[in-house]
Amino acid sequence: MRLQGKVAIVTGACGGIGRQIVNKFVREGARVVAADLDQQQVEEFAGQFPGEVKGFAVDVTDYAQVQAMVCAAVDWFGTLDVMINNAGIGAPKALLEHDPVADFDAITRVNQKGVYHGILAAAKKLQELGRPGVILNTSSIYGRMAAEMTFTYNVSKAAVDMMTKCAALELAPLGIRVVAVAPGRVDTPMLRQYEALGLWEHIRREQMRNEFTQPAEIADIFAFLASGEANCINGSTVSADDGFLNFKYPLTAG
Ligand SMILES: NC(=O)c1ccc[n+]([C@@H]2O[C@H](COP(=O)([O-])OP(=O)(O)OC[C@H]3O[C@@H](n4cnc5c(N)ncnc54)[C@H](O)[C@@H]3O)[C@@H](O)[C@H]2O)c1
Repeated sequence: MRLQGKVAIVTGACGGIGRQIVNKFVREGARVVAADLDQQQVEEFAGQFPGEVKGFAVDVTDYAQVQAMVCAAVDWFGTLDVMINNAGIGAPKALLEHDPVADFDAITRVNQKGVYHGILAAAKKLQELGRPGVILNTSSIYGRMAAEMTFTYNVSKAAVDMMTKCAALELAPLGIRVVAVAPGRVDTPMLRQYEALGLWEHIRREQMRNEFTQPAEIADIFAFLASGEANCINGSTVSADDGFLNFKYPLTAG
């Protein structure tokens, strides 16, 4: 078990990818704070792992709540080793149809500022504890490429990549690694928005395997990056995208 005895926090823990990260971390021996917006939902989810997972209701756009979450992890489990800033939202919409508040501020506050809050609160707590640690951020292939209908989302994920690099540089002297994971298209409620837009089959055919990545496959990458096996990976954004960025249009696409 590569995370035996570790204490981790996962935000967006009740979503498609977050649930699988929590599952995987518990199987690898970690105790986990599962954090998401809805109190009842986090408690129901945490209740599936008695003694190993605690639920915490958090809105990552509010720094005070993020600080309280980090403190709760230490109160419950005695320390903190891994912070996973995974909460995110997306709402596909053409740029020319944007409302600048609803379609820019809302996404930016969760995807960009929320990750910043998580990095800052976790780093300060690790410094106070005098312990090394790992901070992992969920980015996206869309942080590195242009795409239609996802203007703000892409900007926010590019920011996640840069926050990862800058934080890694400043936190390295404390023994804190900061790494991002850039999934491609993962079959979760967030991606299912494309079903409602009538684009599900279209984007599925753009996949190298003609299938979407499964959330559990992304969770495996997080577990590896949180472990000592990844000690020499720092400041990077690691692609977990089925080759999408390299081979966007497979020959078999119809
Ligand atoms: N699904 C994909 O194809 C894909 C691809 C690349 C990156 N990602 C990223 O993976 C992460 C997880 O997404 P997912 O696909 O599991 O989506 P999801 O919608 O299933 O889960 C996202 C979770 O984040 C929570 N959340 C939203 N706003 C929050 C807030 N303010 N505070 C706390 N929690 C909040 C939601 O309640 C939800 O449970 C996101 O950062 C997303 O951008 C997803």
